[in-house]
Amino acid sequence: MKAIQTLVASKYSVWFVLALPAWEYVHELFYPSRHYPEIMQFSGELSIQMLVFTLCITPLTLILRYFEWGKTIARWLLRNRRYIGVAGFAYAVIHTILYVRQTFDLELIWLEALDWPLGTGWICLIILLPIALTSNKTSINMMGKSWKVMQRFSYLAIIAGFAHWLLLDFFIDNAMMWIIPLVIAKLVHLGFRLYSRFKSSAPKAQVS
Ligand code: HEM
Repeated sequence: MKAIQTLVASKYSVWFVLALPAWEYVHELFYPSRHYPEIMQFSGELSIQMLVFTLCITPLTLILRYFEWGKTIARWLLRNRRYIGVAGFAYAVIHTILYVRQTFDLELIWLEALDWPLGTGWICLIILLPIALTSNKTSINMMGKSWKVMQRFSYLAIIAGFAHWLLLDFFIDNAMMWIIPLVIAKLVHLGFRLYSRFKSSAPKAQVS
């Protein structure tokens, strides 16, 4: 039992699990065998799903901490949030490399980037790049408050990512299945923040 607990708690096990789907895409890079739109859809969706999940972790832990069994899960999620976010970014990079390898024409890549459907993908990736690069303890210590400000840009990235998805996918319900939970999670987060602000500013009851 102790061995299983250590394995689940280890960051290396988390990295291993997060990297598992990458084998298929890296293999696809060197030995293309699958239908291109299919591999683009899977890699893009996996990336955005990981990013959405990362953004949902804080509100989720605010609820989980009310349950005894939830506290351990909440701690585990908070400890590994950074890794899930970075994995989401890594899958976005693989997704982009698959596109570049398939297109293989700089001028066409540039022209397509100037159009909204693919331009929004590039915007998302460019915003995510500094966020992912500074997702380490050294940057957190060095950047102080500006680190938090930069992390907030991840919302802009996810909006661009969803715009990219909605503009490319014929059916909007696939994207909506991830947009709606994210919006609900953020409303929950906002609700908790307002409540704690209200609680701390309310006058304390007089003790006579
Ligand atoms: C960096 C530049 C990017 C380029 C050039 C690009 C390009 C593409 C292309 C060509 C497709 C396939 C469209 C089709 O089915 O015909 C696609 C799909 C998709 N991409 Fe990207 N992408 C980029 C970045 C991203 C990023 C950063 C994300 C996520 C965070 C993302 C998420 C998606 C999703 C979810 C789909 C699936 C759309 C569908 O269901 O058809 N992409 N992308």
